[in-house]
Amino acid sequence: VKNIAILTSGGDSPGMNTAVRAAAKFAFDKGLTVFGIRRGYAGMVNDDIYEMEPKDVSGIIDRGGTTLLTARCLEFHEAKYRAQAAANLRKRNIEGVVVIGGDGSYRGANYLSLEHPDIKVIGIPGTIDNDIAGTDYTIGFDTALNTVLEAMSKLRDTATSHERTYFLEVMGRDSGELALYSCLAGGGDGLFIPEKEFALDDLADLVNTRRQKGKLSDLVLVSEGVGSAAEIASKLKNKIHSSVRVTILGHVQRGGAPSALDRLLATKMGAYGVKRLLEGASGIMIGIESNELTEYPIGYAWENKKKINDNDYELAMILSK
Ligand code: F6P
Repeated sequence: VKNIAILTSGGDSPGMNTAVRAAAKFAFDKGLTVFGIRRGYAGMVNDDIYEMEPKDVSGIIDRGGTTLLTARCLEFHEAKYRAQAAANLRKRNIEGVVVIGGDGSYRGANYLSLEHPDIKVIGIPGTIDNDIAGTDYTIGFDTALNTVLEAMSKLRDTATSHERTYFLEVMGRDSGELALYSCLAGGGDGLFIPEKEFALDDLADLVNTRRQKGKLSDLVLVSEGVGSAAEIASKLKNKIHSSVRVTILGHVQRGGAPSALDRLLATKMGAYGVKRLLEGASGIMIGIESNELTEYPIGYAWENKKKINDNDYELAMILSK
């Protein structure tokens, strides 16, 4: 492998730039020519591919978002566009691609490597959702978690002053990871995630008992995958002796400078992805488990749904009482 390309795809996440930098710098060190593909698979199909220079990855280690830009490309679901994309890679002699994104991006990578085996593909998990099986953490999750924690502290100030119950809706698509760990690390007073049942009446009882015992406010985490926090709040409004407010944190969770953990993760994974390409690997995803870099066939990501850690959930339930 002499020429490789890097793309970021799907929802951006803090640390994607860090991973691009590490992959590119590692590749430069090995004498490779590195191409950047803009807007994920859309750029591969539309031939928006450019040769990267070291200056393109200089000063981006701590920048949120992705300088390569990102998109969700529907055309890539069709084989004829994938063939067009492969032709665009071939004309530059690109033999390896590092795909940084979520499991949707991995599916595209899988099709590409199966239909065009001359092009090697490695997946690196970049999403704030932490919903990819085969890795304890995805790049961006820790930064998003810290963003939620900061919001929780601010909300708790005002919630306490006004003796209110706040419902905070956080992202995660259909995964409750971000909400669960926000609840644990931020001291949430209730948790709704798609993977587990939590009865509204139980929360109402908890809130009412707390008020009797003198606790002034509540901060309840709602993962977007269970539905809207506004709906949950309106169902509870008449059952609790507390005024209610709802905050939807939204895309602020996707931005910001990557945390130390995300930078380390992105740096290790980005470089390792290129190392494995050079060793001839293809159709694999990189992960980190028990602090060791791991790899799985790329299909592992969607064939095995990542499970919520039951012990962590139980602890969140106990501590949020
Ligand atoms: O997958 C990342 C994510 O931020 C999810 O948490 C969220 O459901 C979704 O992307 C939002 O997507 P969009 O940027 O298209 O609004």
